[in-house]
Amino acid sequence: MTFAYEPHPSPVAASERDGRLVDPGFGRVFTDHMVTLRWSEGKGWHDGKVHARAPLQMDPASSVLHYAQEIFEGMKAYRLDDGTTALFRPEANARRFQDSARRMAMPELPEALFLESIERLVEIDRDWIPTIEGGSLYLRPFMIASEVFLGVKPSSEYLYMVIASSVGGYFKSGAPAVSLWATRDFTRAAPGGTGAAKCGGNYAASLAAQHDAIARGHDQVVFLDAAERRWIEELGGMNIFFVFEDGSVVTPPLTGTILPGITRDSILTLLRDEGVAVREEPYAIQQWQADAESGRLIESFACGTAAVVTPIGKVTSTEFAFTVGSGGPGQMTQRIRQRLVDIQRARAPDPHGWLKRLD
Ligand code: PLP
Ligand code: COI
Repeated sequence: MTFAYEPHPSPVAASERDGRLVDPGFGRVFTDHMVTLRWSEGKGWHDGKVHARAPLQMDPASSVLHYAQEIFEGMKAYRLDDGTTALFRPEANARRFQDSARRMAMPELPEALFLESIERLVEIDRDWIPTIEGGSLYLRPFMIASEVFLGVKPSSEYLYMVIASSVGGYFKSGAPAVSLWATRDFTRAAPGGTGAAKCGGNYAASLAAQHDAIARGHDQVVFLDAAERRWIEELGGMNIFFVFEDGSVVTPPLTGTILPGITRDSILTLLRDEGVAVREEPYAIQQWQADAESGRLIESFACGTAAVVTPIGKVTSTEFAFTVGSGGPGQMTQRIRQRLVDIQRARAPDPHGWLKRLD
């Protein structure tokens, strides 16, 4: 299957576009085109196109609007110093999209179609990649249940789409590190639930806690496990790492309640390549506080496609507040961020073949 191309009849003028790319922030500036591809029982995948980005027309009884059968991915296209473009580990996103689809009883999109949809859109809208430092094109593939039916069952029709957003940093620049709210009231995912899938419902479930965090002056929520409310899991949209004085590193294990982040996996691989002692093991919130206060723990950082590698400065809950290390970016955090970004931008050797060059 190939995607038909219907060029936008009136794309944004270059001067207007360049103005929007000066300081795009995150997730507000969108490109001219989008991808759509349909699936229905009996017919499978069909009607793939790249066309002008436009509002959707949906029946109000479309099942996604009622039962949230929806999954998505997040990945970036980079403009390299030589003017060409590249993706970072897009096959990993394709596979995770399939894993999410299975968990949500949705059809799996073949990896080749996923990759083709992304590559076509990037190729067509490549002028939307900002040239500012740290800029990229954030790609958002997603799939929704589109059957018009109010009964609760897996939909018999789906719509897969890809939109693209010109982005700078996820966080407003200025702050040296993010401040976390460790929620005691809410959990994000439970054993047997959907925590390891990238489905919209997980994010909806995180928002009451995120609301509390913002109201109390913090940036992000750190979620604890649902069973004991003791073990650190992840943030609403990022995985988490802990760095110790002895040079070792810990990150929570993939037990099914957290998202298997591609940034997380890349960092684990890079650290192991360097011979750093890394452990995927449970780490308790009380231990984090004790270790930060004793100086045994010297750095913590969050990571993800949108956030890249972001230092964690302060952690607060109803019972405690503590500062991690100096409260700003630590040495390991800065070093690992730089290593990752250098590979993504083809400024350093890519020993694992993670960069997929598009032209
Ligand atoms: N955890 C959650 C809940 C996320 O939404 C994300 C972002 O995609 C991550 C972790 C990090 O995943 P990745 O590194 O693949 O972007
Ligand atoms: C990402 O990092 O791609 C995410 O999905 C996090 C957030 C924007 C939902």
